Amino acid sequence: MTRALNFSAGPAALPFEVLQQAREELLDWRGAGASIMELSHRGKAFSGVIEAAEADLRELLAIPGNYKVLFLQGGQTLQFAQVPMNLLAGGSADYLITGTWSQKAYKEAARIGKARLVASTEDGGKFTRLPALADLRFDKEAAYFHLCTNETIHGVEVHEDYEIGLFDALAAAAVPLVADMSSHLLSRPLEVRRYGLISAGAQKNIGPSGLTLVIVREDLLGRAAADTPTLLDYRNQADNGSLLNTPPTFAIYIAGLVFKWLKARGGLGAIAAINREKARRLYAAIDGSGGFYQNTVEPACRSWMNVPFTLPDAELEARFVKESAAAGFIGLKGHKSVGGIRASLYNAVSLEAVDALLQFMDDFRRG
Ligand SMILES: Cc1ncc(COP(=O)(O)O)c(C=O)c1O
Repeated sequence: MTRALNFSAGPAALPFEVLQQAREELLDWRGAGASIMELSHRGKAFSGVIEAAEADLRELLAIPGNYKVLFLQGGQTLQFAQVPMNLLAGGSADYLITGTWSQKAYKEAARIGKARLVASTEDGGKFTRLPALADLRFDKEAAYFHLCTNETIHGVEVHEDYEIGLFDALAAAAVPLVADMSSHLLSRPLEVRRYGLISAGAQKNIGPSGLTLVIVREDLLGRAAADTPTLLDYRNQADNGSLLNTPPTFAIYIAGLVFKWLKARGGLGAIAAINREKARRLYAAIDGSGGFYQNTVEPACRSWMNVPFTLPDAELEARFVKESAAAGFIGLKGHKSVGGIRASLYNAVSLEAVDALLQFMDDFRRG
């Protein structure tokens, strides 16, 4: 068996040890005589799985007691609608656009209620920066302030200094921060208390697609618009332990194994140190390539998780994709909307895999 060096943006590489354990438990989950996906979501076996997953996630992120953890479906895209349905409460929300995903979130919210664009960093179809905090004109009455803390397509990430500045500016007016963290949740430690709501599609650092995580402060529950479908009201999901209907049991089980894998590796501080080093090496190789490889994102907001870069022309990029695939790499083609190359460096991508990519990039450049 050969496992490819997987740099996909999502669904993405999962830890080898997690897949191995899932394979061992697939036909007979811990003596149950069936796989976990064949057992009732209300039975003892699955209750243990979801409870352990929540407890481990709470421990990893040090989630304060006044936050609920919800295991939902519909992907992050449904959150773009579910957030305004639950939190607008007839008011208006502020949206910051820093890439494709926050743009989609803004458009969806505007379909549902009042969404105000605070700033967009789009510049000739490109997104390469975060706006200066001093330039942001917040609505002090906003129901919430929405942003995407890691733009998966453009490789723009909100790092901690910026996050703190934003939080401090909004805290004065008690406007809750709401973030789409799909592509960097669990890549580093996080102060959950800075947010009113955090959500993420699972298919990057969490587990298989089909599961969506929501971490929400309790005081934001119970504000859903009256016509919100039962299943989409966070309050109902919180009151029912995410078991209002049949949840994605297998995806929750795998996410639980990923949480245990993270804990065994020393938690988020330890994984962050590796992630930082992986990103440092790749950006250094790009910047040191004499302009052959280019990433134009401002250094202060370069993503540790998704590194888009270009080559001198489209023909070379096509050759890069083809030859990298022949060399055992997958997932390096850039998103179809922006082209180029993109390397995603999620938790399950090892430092060794990144070094192998750097070697390939160097060989390719030298021809
Ligand atoms: C930051 C971000 N937000 C939202 C989405 C959409 O997520 P989903 O496909 O789970 O709806 C993605 C998908 O890659 C993403 O990276």
